Amino acid sequence: MSLKDKNILLGISGGIAAYKIPILIRLLKKQGANVRVVVTEAATRFVTELTLSTLSQEPVCKDIFPDSFSTRDDWTRHISMGEWADAYAIAPATANTIAKLTAGVCDDMLSASFITLRPNKPRLIFPAMDGEMFSSASVQRNLSWLSQNGCTIINPESGDLASGQCGKGRMPEPEAIANIIDEAVKDKSHDSKLCGKSVVITAGPTREKIDDVRFISNYSSGKMGFALAAAAVARGAGVTLITGPVHLPTPDGVDRLDVESTEEMDLAAKQHYRSCDIFIGAAAVADYRPANHVAGKIKKNSKTMEINLVRNPDVLTGFSKQKTLHQLAVGFCLETEGNLQNAREKLTQKKLDLVAYNTFDGKTSGFEVDTNILTLIDKNLEIHELPLLSKKEAAERMLNVIEELISSDKKTSDE
Ligand code: C5P
Repeated sequence: MSLKDKNILLGISGGIAAYKIPILIRLLKKQGANVRVVVTEAATRFVTELTLSTLSQEPVCKDIFPDSFSTRDDWTRHISMGEWADAYAIAPATANTIAKLTAGVCDDMLSASFITLRPNKPRLIFPAMDGEMFSSASVQRNLSWLSQNGCTIINPESGDLASGQCGKGRMPEPEAIANIIDEAVKDKSHDSKLCGKSVVITAGPTREKIDDVRFISNYSSGKMGFALAAAAVARGAGVTLITGPVHLPTPDGVDRLDVESTEEMDLAAKQHYRSCDIFIGAAAVADYRPANHVAGKIKKNSKTMEINLVRNPDVLTGFSKQKTLHQLAVGFCLETEGNLQNAREKLTQKKLDLVAYNTFDGKTSGFEVDTNILTLIDKNLEIHELPLLSKKEAAERMLNVIEELISSDKKTSDE
């Protein structure tokens, strides 16, 4: 039972489907979960705070500023709620609440604790409203944004609606919601083929020094590599993350090595060639570096200036060239021209087991942004086309394919 001792935060907004939530609370409590409830003002028109607090055995929160403050925690509750929760389910989620979550408005406890929820915790959104409202352009746009930014949207079912009409908009029954929450908090690391594997990931840009104050670099933020590191740790892998200069916190449980130049990244990677099971090159490594690093600051004495560049080592190829049969090499191929053939060639040239062809449009996929569009090509030339996804979700899908490769390799070696 995955719900035992799990902290489940339930957010109720003002829709008629709120009448199902007391039953949901009973089901979650029965399975051993700790349940706390946050409500919007409108939700209290449909279900009373007394009912919710009696069943959850916890006070119900609504306002960020309650009428009286008795303990210090009262005025930081919007933060402690987000830290406490192992999962946050918002059911029912009305069009208004969905819009607030999308825009980052946090004027009540429900929306504020949504923002303070720890980044890797499941955010489950159960929209429930009239069919016309659900299919409206604004609701669909907001749900699509939430889905691309780490939320799981559980689409409403079709059936009788409170408006008297029949259509899409019904929130799933409490038993189904409890199962979805149960699945979301399950510790999947034991089932994963990555459990106990050693994974090395390169991430971010590199800096190639011209003189002591200037360098050549690129726009890579490191977000894709960091998302892969967090997802691999959650599946029970031991992860070493070799990163160029980025502004990202280290995911929990990841062993991080900071480097600056490609040569430093190459040196750090070499230390792990033998011990690692999977090497993922997600770094946007500079292909060239200045041939000479000038000490001090170059003066602007002439109208033009030439910098002589030399090739950098290829970190990923360095690994894949010497890898054994049981090690996997995974790379990225960022293209501005949209040519899958280049990715296929990279797979062969760099002796990879998997390549992620990364489209670059400067808006939804590529550097800096939180979303990505990847097409994965594995060593059997099988293509896995992924839609526009958050980098977190794209990382999960990439790891799924890596797990499939591990399974098929194992089968072949067992035969
Ligand atoms: O050759 P190209 O830069 O297009 O290949 C991209 C892939 O190779 C990425 O996975 C990147 O991390 C890796 N790479 C590397 N060292 C380099 C250049 C690229 O590891 N010097």
